[in-house]
Amino acid sequence: MCGIVAYIGPREAYPVILKGLKRLEYRGYDSSGVALLNDELRVYKKKGKVAELEDSLVGKDLHAHAGMGHTRWATHGEPNDRNAHPHSSASGRLAMIHNGIIENYTQLKQELMRKGYVFKSDTDTEVLLNFIEDIQQNNQCGLEEAVRIALKRVVGAYVIVLLDRDTPDTLIAARKGSPLVIGIGKGEHFLASDASPIIEYTKEVVYVNDYELAILKSDELILKNLGNDKITPFIQKLDMEMAAIEKGGYEHFMLKEIFEQPATIFDCLRGRLDVVKGTITMAGIQQHIEKLSTAKRIIMIGCGTSWHAGLVAEYVFEELCRIPVEVEYASEFRYRNPVVHPGDVIIAISQSGETADTIVAIEKAKENGAFILGVVNVVGSSIARISNAGAYTHAGPEIGVASTKAFTAQLAVLTMIALKIAKERGSIDTTRYMHLLNELHSVPEKVKEVLKLNGAIQKLAEKYKEAKDALYLGRGYNFAVALEGALKLKEISYIHAEGYPAAEMKHGPIALVDEALPVVFVATRDSYHEKIVSNIQEVKARKGKIVAVISEGDTIIESMADDCMVIPEADELIAPMLSVIPLQLLAYYSGVAKGYDVDKPRNLAKSVTVE
Ligand code: G6P
Repeated sequence: MCGIVAYIGPREAYPVILKGLKRLEYRGYDSSGVALLNDELRVYKKKGKVAELEDSLVGKDLHAHAGMGHTRWATHGEPNDRNAHPHSSASGRLAMIHNGIIENYTQLKQELMRKGYVFKSDTDTEVLLNFIEDIQQNNQCGLEEAVRIALKRVVGAYVIVLLDRDTPDTLIAARKGSPLVIGIGKGEHFLASDASPIIEYTKEVVYVNDYELAILKSDELILKNLGNDKITPFIQKLDMEMAAIEKGGYEHFMLKEIFEQPATIFDCLRGRLDVVKGTITMAGIQQHIEKLSTAKRIIMIGCGTSWHAGLVAEYVFEELCRIPVEVEYASEFRYRNPVVHPGDVIIAISQSGETADTIVAIEKAKENGAFILGVVNVVGSSIARISNAGAYTHAGPEIGVASTKAFTAQLAVLTMIALKIAKERGSIDTTRYMHLLNELHSVPEKVKEVLKLNGAIQKLAEKYKEAKDALYLGRGYNFAVALEGALKLKEISYIHAEGYPAAEMKHGPIALVDEALPVVFVATRDSYHEKIVSNIQEVKARKGKIVAVISEGDTIIESMADDCMVIPEADELIAPMLSVIPLQLLAYYSGVAKGYDVDKPRNLAKSVTVE
């Protein structure tokens, strides 16, 4: 949510920043802007996507060796030029970009207004910037000290980066709650919300921690805490290739990422699952296996698609491990004084590892003595670092705003964790255990089969693109897949869609069924099959259009449905990794058919770093 990028060194800063902003655009695209510093400090900003900023800057003087850029997901103040970042201080000497929310900004703003400050924007960022400048003027101190003093009064989450016209050889950045990565080049430094703008130039990075301040010159990096003590930067090597963040011939990242799933699930299982030996190797889980297998209760927390992965995992864990599982929206969990006991295990699921609601929920659970297991995609992200243990999903960078490959990788990891715990507890017999290992092993090949539906689903999307609403229904393991299918459709095609447990339909949504309503049934062959066939009959009797995801050879549903997406047979516990894929494609092609920017759906952001 908001992307930031900055550069200091011998290169021209603007092209580095512009390219970085394009890579970070998935984090928000309400407006964008750059600040460039040579002898003077120039700020350019524009409502809309980065390309609009780029067009508006043709012919401008963009020469600079230090600069920063921002792509915004609006929180305070509507998306317009005025509220776009960077912001300039009252004196015009400082410029700042910000990702996060300053919760006590009203109070700070009132204090500053009493002193005569006038604000040009509606943002919390401009308030913090002037608060910093005010401290600097009153205390006659340097910018670094002023930032430190200011941040001690700030409530909220932030990454900020500041440029000072009077010290063109220095960038100052600080972090609490939002992500910040520093790239270390030869005589140059890069700063960004994630590694994607940096990887082209260097693989050496430092992940800045909360309450740390970075003072960057071309050839020097100083890290400090807010108490002004120096901290030794922990330099890590990025394990990511450029190809992973490029479209690779696909029209959109979302399609590329859907098609990557055979490989991403394979990567997720690789080195872990051994069907010959009958083992699952996950060091982070093994180390804590006793704690995990003796847990009285497991609580899954997450948001959006990650929450849906938790819902599938609830069924898997309860079935295999016989441990009670609850699944909570991270945002609700945090603020309702949850009952958490020492010994409870929290499984925090997150693609980005930076979702603010999930982070604060983890902090709350930690306070109460729970053990936190992170299932995260982005290596080195905040959630990965604050968890007591974890397992990465290894799906590679996911850039399309709607999550696809991260979801299936989450399911693969969660299933492996459940199998490990079940084995340890003795709650699964060897035959079932070996069967599920083999089923997991065969998922990448089966996903390849599912992807052959691509052309047919494109036609299906054309057929239903004018629908105003859609209902998605599933039971058991496929219930959460129905929710995920509906979420995908609404976020990408803006068709209103609701996911429901199929049997609950008769308690409300059935009132919506008429000949104009497509009802998507996720109805692969499982222990609920007969029941869902009855639900399909109920919709058919009311003339709803039946679109169904079914298993090979299911002639019963095939004869009832208007349209079918047929996928390979799989154990019901594994089936969601396959049944979700046609729904991802259906959402994708519906969005494309309606002419929408599927990689950047309106009002959304990929990484939601505000609560
Ligand atoms: C945003 C994204 C979703 C994602 C959710 C949770 O809403 O648009 O695709 O599922 O955040 O994000 P996380 O990174 O924690 O999985």
